Amino acid sequence: MAYSQQLLRIPINRLPVPNPALPITLCQRSRLSGVDFDHLGFGDVFSDHMFRCEFTDGRWHSAQIVPYGPIAMEPGALCLHYGQAVFEGLKAFRGVDGVPRIFRPDRNADRLEQSCARLCIPPIDQELFCSAIEQLVTVDEKWLPQRRGESLYIRPLVFATEPNLLVKASDRYLFLIITAPVKGYFSTTDSGVSLRAEPNYTRAAMGGTGFAKTGGNYAATLRPGTDSVEQGFDQTLWLDSRDHCFVEEVGQMNIFFKIGDTFVTPPLKGTILPGVTRESVLTLLKDHGEKFEERPVSMEEVILAYDRGDLQEVFGAGTAAVIAPVSRIAYGEKTLNFDVSPENLASKWLYQTIVDIQTGVTEDIHGWNRIVRTDANTSRPVESVRF
Ligand code: COI
Repeated sequence: MAYSQQLLRIPINRLPVPNPALPITLCQRSRLSGVDFDHLGFGDVFSDHMFRCEFTDGRWHSAQIVPYGPIAMEPGALCLHYGQAVFEGLKAFRGVDGVPRIFRPDRNADRLEQSCARLCIPPIDQELFCSAIEQLVTVDEKWLPQRRGESLYIRPLVFATEPNLLVKASDRYLFLIITAPVKGYFSTTDSGVSLRAEPNYTRAAMGGTGFAKTGGNYAATLRPGTDSVEQGFDQTLWLDSRDHCFVEEVGQMNIFFKIGDTFVTPPLKGTILPGVTRESVLTLLKDHGEKFEERPVSMEEVILAYDRGDLQEVFGAGTAAVIAPVSRIAYGEKTLNFDVSPENLASKWLYQTIVDIQTGVTEDIHGWNRIVRTDANTSRPVESVRF
């Protein structure tokens, strides 16, 4: 889209600074050679550069790419006290043709907008978001892992920087995008993920912030999450806040049950995160002519289906987790066990299909990938996106 068209489309309060091109300050010395790509973890190593953009005086400005590094912030910054902060998670992949692809950044841009709205953070233009990610991936293209199952995880974050102890919406923000070469989130994906359904604590309630990607939602899961790990489980399965009967999500991923020949996943009614992978799974199930329902699913229904041999499989879906088969669910005294070894599990073809699309093995019929154009010789952007 031409710049003039973009200008027409962008509401005035969202106009990025009218720089002719996104300024890039390259780091003096790359840290890439020190990275052990044979032993990647999840998010403990960060790429050379980051994107930053500031909000002051009622507008976003000073968008630029700079070397990754510490940021100066006042101890009085509102985000540190009252949690006015949101983030996103998405991935870029090295295709089998060598070309980097970013998976569905437009959906993350959309969700960031919802999160910002809930947390009273000024919106970020969706094309600014996508273009900034594309340029950052271009600059750090060499950080894209080569192996299937690995990716460059992209973490956009927006937080309140105004120093003020009043409980109020900040009038200053910082928008950063950092990236990290990663493997899968769970080390136990092959053997399946074990879940403990939490009977007391809740992750989110109706009218709260459950649908928004804000740090507080994750902080609230740490105490019960630690209990889950101490009791021998990988993760907590969240239930509804009112009765602790209906399944919500896992925190790091949405959840699917295959009951009989129908896939069932809890509906988006404000308490669970609208996952991009969840949405992609529903599209793929539709493409494959599978039956699926987005509806409340109770633990009672899950247990009844399990006891009569109707619960075929359970799996989680999330950007970091991709598709993670569930091997065990504990709910009070009851434990449900699942064999995750059969090759014909839906979780297996869904994982393969999603990764095939992300890496250009399979035709991207829905146009989910944003292709990154690079000049392989210099790893500098071939064409600067205007801001
Ligand atoms: C993601 O799937 O991208 C997430 O944000 C989950 C977790 C790493 C916080």
